[in-house]
Amino acid sequence: MAASRNSKVKLRGQAARADRHELYELSVQDPKSEVQFVAKTFKRLRKRKASSLREDFCGTAVFSLAWVRSNRERTAIGVDLDGETLQWGLEQRVRPAGERDGVDYESRMTLREANVLDASPTLTDVAVGYNFSYWCFETREQLLAYFEAARAGLVDDGVLFLDAYGGTEVPMSEINEREVIDERGVVNEGEPFTYVWDQIRYNPITGHMDCAIHFEFEDGSRIDEAFSYSWRVWTLPELRELLLEAGFATVRIWAEREDDDGDGTGTYYETKDLDNEGVWWVYISAEN
Ligand SMILES: C[S@@+](CC[C@H](N)C(=O)[O-])C[C@H]1O[C@@H](n2cnc3c(N)ncnc32)[C@H](O)[C@@H]1O
Repeated sequence: MAASRNSKVKLRGQAARADRHELYELSVQDPKSEVQFVAKTFKRLRKRKASSLREDFCGTAVFSLAWVRSNRERTAIGVDLDGETLQWGLEQRVRPAGERDGVDYESRMTLREANVLDASPTLTDVAVGYNFSYWCFETREQLLAYFEAARAGLVDDGVLFLDAYGGTEVPMSEINEREVIDERGVVNEGEPFTYVWDQIRYNPITGHMDCAIHFEFEDGSRIDEAFSYSWRVWTLPELRELLLEAGFATVRIWAEREDDDGDGTGTYYETKDLDNEGVWWVYISAEN
């Protein structure tokens, strides 16, 4: 998977002034509630509190930051291949949050520029791999190697959390748009912008898919392919089989409870059945 801006194109207007990491964070990340789910589910499964976390494919490490912010005992290790993105997270998120809160979050965080397949030098209670990042491993051998490495980096009663999505609308060329606004008035000078999720092509023979995120602005400017993804769309039974093969004992699927209007409530339940219509999105837990 590549996460890169098409640098050949000269940006103008609001697009030129916007920061793609900020736009991404506002559009697709919700670290506070993700941390809540992980902490609560770990407690439910393991009857103890989780304190140490490894965030694989951490990017700007906002999940790791939310983890250490949620409890002063908590520590986090963020792992990503992209040193520039890690540095952005440190300078734009971790240090400013520490200054604002008067807490040295950085001392409880380790950001490693490394491959998630490399052995982790420290064992943790929890590991997370979010936003389908592990789909960059497109063969059974590669994904098995990742699940084995993820498991080897956990303590005896550790839990790996992943997410996955699918449904009838996923294996097709489709563009989805959503207006996003930063209520704080910081991102994009407080003006709304449009998040565009572009499912470019899907090959049913290999399961390979190319997708991209574009951002569009009120002044007509645009960041084309702010992030691009090249991955395999894995199914839940395939993932379960590979996780068990990697040595995990139990694999569970968690879906978000919806209210009467069909909106997510932020609470999750373990499920063995899903409606495949449209798009579904779930968390997966794999217990040692
Ligand atoms: C889509 S971003 C995910 C960011 C964040 N985890 C999130 O939830 O939005 C994927 C990240 O995975 C990183 N990455 C891709 N392959 C990797 C690998 N083998 N080891 C470590 N990081 C990798 C990329 O550099 C990129 O920052």
